[in-house]
Amino acid sequence: MSQTREVSCPVRTVIVPAAGLGTRFLPATKSVPKELLPVVDTPGIELIAEEASALGASRLAIVTAARKAGVLGYFHTDEQLEHALENKGDSATLARVRRAASLVEPVAIMQDEPLGLGHAVGLAEAVLDDDEDVVAVMLPDDLVLPMGVMETMAQVRREYGGSVLCAFDVPRDEVSNYGVFEIAETDTGSVKRVLGMVEKPVVEDAPSTFVAAGRYLLDRQIFTALKEITPGKGGELQLTDAIELLIEQGHPVHIVVHDGSRHDLGNPGGFIRACVDFGLQHPDYQLGLRRYLRQRLAEEND
Ligand code: UTP
Repeated sequence: MSQTREVSCPVRTVIVPAAGLGTRFLPATKSVPKELLPVVDTPGIELIAEEASALGASRLAIVTAARKAGVLGYFHTDEQLEHALENKGDSATLARVRRAASLVEPVAIMQDEPLGLGHAVGLAEAVLDDDEDVVAVMLPDDLVLPMGVMETMAQVRREYGGSVLCAFDVPRDEVSNYGVFEIAETDTGSVKRVLGMVEKPVVEDAPSTFVAAGRYLLDRQIFTALKEITPGKGGELQLTDAIELLIEQGHPVHIVVHDGSRHDLGNPGGFIRACVDFGLQHPDYQLGLRRYLRQRLAEEND
């Protein structure tokens, strides 16, 4: 069931690639998919559902694997649980439990083998309607804050056509951790035309300090490009290789440089920071957490 919302944005489907092995978060991810790890009390997959719904999308195409069935399960109704909460008169918790499924309609797409992000995105073409000419891709382990960058990206697509990606401007000594864009300026400072991409370059070879984040607004032509590419880095089908191909073929690709922050929920260090960030904004926990952190850091400095 989806919420109807008047948004002047054509995105109906958000693809959520969630079939990866999560090796950076082992051993926890041996049995708990990283998409279900709670940022304070809300799993990453619900934060993505919230972002997709705010964009006006109605369908969450979750690419998942047999060993990660819990990700889809999170959207299922648990009648016994809901009944127990109803009997207790706990309507607030009941609403929280029902929230994810009320935001978007989840659709499962199985990826039998983790053959790469490009492969995962390619599988989602099967669930699109014939008239969908654009899709969003949101990586669930990349928390991009404040939410809303995809709405700006949709505006940029309306102006320039083609595909639009989200980028961050990072200090030059950090570029080697990311995919880095080679860009040309446009009339709008925060929007750049993409000429190419370099995956994790050494600092001297980086064409800019603008790096990719896990938000993509992709023209449907991406699926043709995904069928044309061959395995790249790590022997996997890479989404960035398909985007490169679109650029080579003359399709417009732009970035929106996001003025905000991001958390990598795919590794413990990033996850802890996200929990602190969200905890400091949570009405129930912020006071206690702030007091605890001050006290704890003061002890650390003694
Ligand atoms: P990552 O490389 O960040 O995720 O892929 P991972 O493979 O789960 O993590 P590590 O490196 O082993 O710790 C980016 C996104 O693409 C998805 C992942 O689930 C993640 O959301 N992905 C990646 C797939 O869905 N299928 C794949 O074959 C590869």
